[in-house]
Amino acid sequence: MSDKLIIFDTTLRDGEQSPGASMTKDEKVRIAKSLERMRVDIIEAGFPIASQGDFAAVKAVAQEIKDSVVCGLARALDKDIDIAGEALKPAQQGRIHTFIATSPIHMKMKLRMQPNQVVEQAIRAVKRARKFTDNVEFSPEDAGRSELDFLCRIIEAVIDEGASTINIPDTVGYNVPDQFGRLIKNLIEKIPNADKAIFSVHCHNDLGLAVANSLSAVMNGARQVECTINGLGERAGNASLEEVVMAVKTRKDVFACASTLDTTQIVASSRLVSSITGFAIQPNKAIVGANAFAHESGIHQDGVLKNRETYEIMLAEDVGWTANKMVLGKHSGRNAFRSRMKELSIEFKSEEELNSAFFRFKSLADRKHDIFDEDLQALVTGAGLETDNEEVKLIALKVCSETGEVPKAAITLRVNAGEHSAEATGGGPVDASFKAIECIVKSATKLQLYSVNAITSGTDAQGEVTVRLEKSGRVVNGQGADTDIVIASAKAYINALNKLSQVEKKSHPQRGDV
Ligand code: KIV
Ligand code: ZN
Repeated sequence: MSDKLIIFDTTLRDGEQSPGASMTKDEKVRIAKSLERMRVDIIEAGFPIASQGDFAAVKAVAQEIKDSVVCGLARALDKDIDIAGEALKPAQQGRIHTFIATSPIHMKMKLRMQPNQVVEQAIRAVKRARKFTDNVEFSPEDAGRSELDFLCRIIEAVIDEGASTINIPDTVGYNVPDQFGRLIKNLIEKIPNADKAIFSVHCHNDLGLAVANSLSAVMNGARQVECTINGLGERAGNASLEEVVMAVKTRKDVFACASTLDTTQIVASSRLVSSITGFAIQPNKAIVGANAFAHESGIHQDGVLKNRETYEIMLAEDVGWTANKMVLGKHSGRNAFRSRMKELSIEFKSEEELNSAFFRFKSLADRKHDIFDEDLQALVTGAGLETDNEEVKLIALKVCSETGEVPKAAITLRVNAGEHSAEATGGGPVDASFKAIECIVKSATKLQLYSVNAITSGTDAQGEVTVRLEKSGRVVNGQGADTDIVIASAKAYINALNKLSQVEKKSHPQRGDV
């Protein structure tokens, strides 16, 4: 059995299925590049049949990514497979991942198919996918609640047809580690041609067991783990990439395999995904939470000062936590800016893009004395980006907040070509600003979430605000960053409005609604 653990990241596909986590094509490409930098083996870039946007994003990722395999998801249907094959055409290394449900409840209630028909459809799908690529993955959806003998039958048949990866999903997060590990072991032992494929797992976190189940599967022969940055994903999410990878790396003594990831890129990728999706990372989140390597109690601090290993099982540097560096200031020039951004692996597609980021940097440096790496990253993530194709732009905002007085906001926006101004009062300056924006745009959206995070420490830190808006079932997150949190809030609200007008309504074929 191989001693390499393949890391398959599905942040851009299953991760994007988290309500409110939809990403634009450019955002997906940015995340894919950071996964490639981390040396992720396979990047599942999307579900091409789900929407034109998904198709375009998979194609764009396939065009940009050279070192990782780029994968597209497809139901076991001809049209899904053909469209996935088309989207993956530009890929240097492409994979089609096709799936069909195999649990009694899914076959009867969702598919309304007999088991024999399901086997036939799976065989047909793998055969069709093989016309596009030799790299075909098959998943029996809801395998965690499927019957062992039926799983053995369908898996043997698709391996005969040329599926080289067999992924076992615990789609509803129902399994427990011992049981899931045994399932993997039994499948590998019972299926006669199991040695012709790599066994993979894909665990959901409904009971908080996704990482534990994945690791148990690895101990029992799985050699690919499907996971997401920060554990993003449907409902309670998927197994978190950073936790799986660091568990295997830290406990080499109990795992017979290792990943080849560059773990020092973990924190940067985690921040990027959090900033683009607006899903904040809880401070006590393993590996990437702000407190993951912080020691509060005196006894712990004393122990760590005497010998790090008394309370630390991993090095913070190994996952990319570095001391905040004050890198640039008000007097830094364009070249210094460009080269520091390059060191942070942020590249600009054109001189115009560089100039516009440099302009935002200068205006930030006027307001904030110390500019940290995190501030520079925010300049090019969802929070800091402004693009020319925005329908709504913030021109000016004035707020008045005084003890004993009702807060007021006066705002000027550019909407398409025209400038409009409005004033409103509210429960606080943020509420007044949102109401003033609504006086102009009349979006009829519902505010579902408002959150503020400090990007760095200090009272002059930039606030990074996330606003989640909902309209007719479409949910988007907008981000804004500024040293003034009322302005950051207005920017986030406007960013969400702009995204809403770009985001088409997506169906989720996995849930059967295409
Ligand atoms: O959870 C699941 O079953 C999936 C499959 C498509 C692999 O996401
Ligand atoms: Zn899933």
